[in-house]
Amino acid sequence: MNPNTSLETVRVDLGARAYDILVGHGALTELGPRLSVMLKRPRAFVLTDETVMRHHKGALEGAVKTAGIHLDWYSLPPGEKTKSFANLEGVLDWLLAGGADRGDTLIAFGGGVIGDMGGLAASLMKRGMGFVQVPTTLLAQVDSSVGGKTAVNTPRGKNLIGAFYQPRLVIADTALLATLPERELKAGYAEIVKYGLINDAPFFDWLAENGQKVLALEPEAARYAVARSCAAKAAIVVEDETETGVRQLLNLGHTFGHAFEAANEYREDLLHGEAVALGMALAFRYGAASGITPAADAARVKQVLGASGLPVSLNGLDRERFAAARLASLMQQDKKARAGRVPLILARGIGAAYVHPDADLASVERFLAAELTEAT
Ligand code: NAD
Ligand code: GLY
Repeated sequence: MNPNTSLETVRVDLGARAYDILVGHGALTELGPRLSVMLKRPRAFVLTDETVMRHHKGALEGAVKTAGIHLDWYSLPPGEKTKSFANLEGVLDWLLAGGADRGDTLIAFGGGVIGDMGGLAASLMKRGMGFVQVPTTLLAQVDSSVGGKTAVNTPRGKNLIGAFYQPRLVIADTALLATLPERELKAGYAEIVKYGLINDAPFFDWLAENGQKVLALEPEAARYAVARSCAAKAAIVVEDETETGVRQLLNLGHTFGHAFEAANEYREDLLHGEAVALGMALAFRYGAASGITPAADAARVKQVLGASGLPVSLNGLDRERFAAARLASLMQQDKKARAGRVPLILARGIGAAYVHPDADLASVERFLAAELTEAT
């Protein structure tokens, strides 16, 4: 079977900055032909991390070989700490030393860490060079590679230095996910479920039936889930590229989730996607406790996320580290929090998320305290 027969193309329709996302098992074979028409000379720069380099350098080289494109590689250690200002400077210096100019293209080949930092480097390089995303984690394929948010972290917080800079092409080859650790795969799956919860109840129903096939990386199921997720994100980004309105819905589960990640000091025993899964389950339960969300929907969200092995309750959590008052105070640090109130993404049901502009943090704290009391 020609793997390309099952490729799907999602268009991000941003006018002069529109681009395609190619999705499917084997999509990487499209890189050479697509780059050939994009490049001024047969050379591209590749930013990656050491783990991705070890597993997949050969696949990327193979994908551009027949097009005769030379790849210049730069790899960094894996992990969130890599997304630093110092490493950004190193990437820019490597590009300058290699003679990169605006007509050249930087390929981000990795997860969200490499994609976020690569995008920022591309935006800065001589005020903007070509940028292509080849995401290698499920999270990056369905979320971070799409929509143009780029960033590095500083000691003052995550993603505080960044820019909106759209890629010219995204290639999401689900075959690359075969080497991804199971926890990372599940963390990315949480972001897929998020799209169903935001505004696509039929997709949520499909995931409830077929989620295990996606997690097993069955090519058809994985392509369908990734492409539908990218299409959902693309539609939102086209409507609100710089997050002044509807793009905020993509933060479903994130306000709760960020508080848990921060309380846990970003240790790797709670991955971002795991915190988002927990956050989404809590947002639905908080909605139910506040008379906004049908209790049956909150229970179903918990059941479906929990069935894929994602955390959905406070069972087993350290009571001191995750004390309700501490979590509420971390939520108070949200940039948009005002006088004891914080915007939260809540839902009137599955597929009906909305921006609740001023949730009362005291009631959120009482809710979390009750959840902790119930937890085992
Ligand atoms: P990551 O980039 O750290 O990758 C997770 C781990 O998987 C790393 O250890 C990496 O080496 C490894 N890995 C990557 N691909 C692999 C493969 N195919 N096989 C084996 N191992 C592989 O993390 P992530 O979860 O992809 O992304 C998280 C980052 O994305 C965070 O920095 C977050 O802020 C950012 N993010 C950005 C956006 C956005 O819109 N720009 C959205 C969501 C998250
Ligand atoms: N990950 C949220 C966004 O891209 O807006």
